[in-house]
Amino acid sequence: MSPSDIYGRKINYLRLSVTDRCNLRCTYCMPASGIKKRAHSDILSYEQLHRIAEAAVAIGVEKIRITGGEPLVRKGMPGFLAGLKRIPGLKKLVLTTNGVFLGSMAGELRDAGVESVNISLDSLRPEVFSRITRRGDLSKVLEGIAAAEHAGFEHIKLNMVVMRGVNDAEVLDFAALTLDRPLKVRFIEYMPTLKERNWQSFMVPGDELLSRLSKRYPLRKVTNDALDGPAVYYRIDGAAGTLGFITPMSSHFCQNCNRIRVTSSGTVKSCLFDDGKTSLKPYLENGDDAGLRETLRQVAGTKPHRHMFMSREADNHSFTMSQIGG
Ligand code: GTP
Ligand code: 5AD
Ligand code: SF4
Repeated sequence: MSPSDIYGRKINYLRLSVTDRCNLRCTYCMPASGIKKRAHSDILSYEQLHRIAEAAVAIGVEKIRITGGEPLVRKGMPGFLAGLKRIPGLKKLVLTTNGVFLGSMAGELRDAGVESVNISLDSLRPEVFSRITRRGDLSKVLEGIAAAEHAGFEHIKLNMVVMRGVNDAEVLDFAALTLDRPLKVRFIEYMPTLKERNWQSFMVPGDELLSRLSKRYPLRKVTNDALDGPAVYYRIDGAAGTLGFITPMSSHFCQNCNRIRVTSSGTVKSCLFDDGKTSLKPYLENGDDAGLRETLRQVAGTKPHRHMFMSREADNHSFTMSQIGG
């Protein structure tokens, strides 16, 4: 049975980061110079990551989302995923990617058993896309999305981090992508993880977007799947796809949070914003699978009631999503 925390939340979702490396440098995720990479020796092997996944499923995790950095920069990913897929009791294996390598890899990921992919896409305009990602090529990601559509994933979600004055003029264009294609386009509130000044003027609240979109389209609320993450979904009347709103800043969703995270160097985190001091490495090194399960259960049980990102405690807190996996 999945562990519950002291607030009664059922923890059944693991976000497993397989690398801190990324081929892009998105402005909201890391500085232009990149981040200090962890030593290769610090990064868990596939065998260790697999043992963590097994331990998590043994304590009640039903869905695993593979994250990075960019997971597809790590060699041998399809074989690793096919191994995870064979873990009895795992109901969903899904992946978050920047989409750059999907053009060539979508088919083998689907064959490995990945059900759904979430793809970051912050602009449909080549120059804006390049400015945000600093080194990305929009055409590659569009090719990746087309390949994912062709490969037959159950769901394809497009993640747009909305930033005022940067890409927010494109919100209607993104919404229009759902008219004829069964895509889930998600608008994400910008989280100031790098401690940017003036982030309030940058962040576009979800309800502002909803009101802008509903002036153009009739929208109807759609119910979430039990294993789904924090997005709240709507459908434009008659559209093939849906629109999701992820609002960590204006209306946090901590009361429904069902997830724990493990970083690529083996630290367990009960919340995106916690300091994560518990390492799984000792249990991996000693072959102590019972210890792995117990530690995961214990961290799951101590999730904070809600994140304190906006409060003073967060003042000295800066991190890059690529080290945690979003
Ligand atoms: P699914 O519902 O499984 O598709 O997951 P998801 O939407 O959580 O996954 P994805 O990796 O696509 O993340 C989308 C956005 O939600 C990213 O900006 C994440 O950083 C953010 N996010 C995911 N989990 C959390 C969380 O626990 N807390 C906060 N504040 N943000 C989160
Ligand atoms: N604020 C909001 N979303 C972010 N992501 C990365 N950094 C941030 C941030 N500061 C998103 C990416 C990716 C997902 C894993 O996390 O766009 O889609
Ligand atoms: Fe890479 Fe994702 Fe961070 Fe962009 S947001 S730099 S794609 S890890």
